Amino acid sequence: MRQTWSYLLRHDPLPVLLSLHLFFVFGIPAKTLTTFNVVSFGAHPFGEYDSTHAFLAAWSQACRSPHPASIYVPPGEFRLGHVRFRGQCRNNDISITIDGKLVPSNDFQSIDDEYWLLFEFVDGVSIHGGVLDGRGARLWDCKNFGGTCPQGATTLGFSKSKNIEIKGLTSVNSQFFHIVFNGCRKVRVKDVKVMAPENSPNTDGIHVQFSSDVTILHSEIRTGDDCVSIGPGTSDLRIEHVACGPGHGISIGSLAREMDEPGVERVTVKAVNMTGTQNGVRIKSWGRPSNGFVRRIVFQNILMLGVQNPIIIDQNYCPDNINCPRQASGVKIKDVKYKMIKGTSATQVAVKFDCSSKHPCNSLRVEDVNLTLHEEEAEAQALCKNAAGTSSSWVRPQSCF
Ligand SMILES: *[C@@H]1O[C@H](CO)[C@@H](O)[C@H](O)[C@H]1NC(C)=O
Ligand SMILES: *[C@@H]1O[C@H](CO)[C@@H](O)[C@H](O)[C@H]1NC(C)=O
Repeated sequence: MRQTWSYLLRHDPLPVLLSLHLFFVFGIPAKTLTTFNVVSFGAHPFGEYDSTHAFLAAWSQACRSPHPASIYVPPGEFRLGHVRFRGQCRNNDISITIDGKLVPSNDFQSIDDEYWLLFEFVDGVSIHGGVLDGRGARLWDCKNFGGTCPQGATTLGFSKSKNIEIKGLTSVNSQFFHIVFNGCRKVRVKDVKVMAPENSPNTDGIHVQFSSDVTILHSEIRTGDDCVSIGPGTSDLRIEHVACGPGHGISIGSLAREMDEPGVERVTVKAVNMTGTQNGVRIKSWGRPSNGFVRRIVFQNILMLGVQNPIIIDQNYCPDNINCPRQASGVKIKDVKYKMIKGTSATQVAVKFDCSSKHPCNSLRVEDVNLTLHEEEAEAQALCKNAAGTSSSWVRPQSCF
């Protein structure tokens, strides 16, 4: 009897019939979700051995699945070398849930690549949870003491991918940038935490370039370089409810790195707090020819606390005067709105529009700005060069147009 039952169970035709039934009745295939646990592919949750191959094997199964698939990383500490998760996949719904922590397999020298974890040519990938610890401290020491050091790897990158979601992820102590989106479409980042010390060089929080339709919401980014940096070819980027600082603030640029460069347009930064950052909201371009542009930008409802350059456009960037002395930036900046920006500046110049002599900034709109100096004995100032625009209820510093 028992044997008959187990025989029946093993050969139960019901699920197949049910799927077919659902398919024929509703015209949709019944969804099956297969979960691949990295440990069952040989990953070591106590960091005993390198788990790179196990992660790649789990990815390859998930990617090959014709149905939605999920990858699970249980609690523990997993050592990984450079991992490249490549598409295209047979499905467009792979979710990766991480309850553990990922660390580089050795020290920074061992990841001989631009990226530590790279997703490439993927469509429909989400990452939930997890801690990525780049263990960059030894590399920063090398850089801070002026040694000859490798660049270091970006912790997490997405390249030429679309429909990406990252939620509840924590990235700490990256060697180079924390998270990069390059050539991506439809990206949703939410509840992410980025942390690295103030003196860690090049540890940008999130870098976006050649990408469109990207949102970064409800996140906290405390690091040694830009909070969010926005490179050429970015459009429809929305940053909301983000806390930045320490770090270098939110920056569009540096642009005009190349002569032929796509522009940046439709970027909105809203409800952001900058605490003790070097810049607040910045647009920056090299002082040299380029056919790039920046337009339709909104910075709104931003609280500055002891920020060195709360509002700044710098089109004369030319470090060490190499490759650009006495040249004017070709980047055309127009239609930038600054609205409801309040708080304190750590330096006298709270607003600085230092635009290109060849292509002055135009249609800058400043509305409801009130920035005071940290110490009250002097008034903050606004400086404008080659900049035109309008202002209303601009209280402090005194408007320069
Ligand atoms: C910014 O600071 C204000 C006042 O302290 C606070 O209410 C708000 O939640 C903060 N926003 C973020 C995104 O941290
Ligand atoms: C501007 O900010 C200062 C300092 O926070 C404050 O005392 C002042 O009332 C503000 N002015 C207006 C018009 O909001």
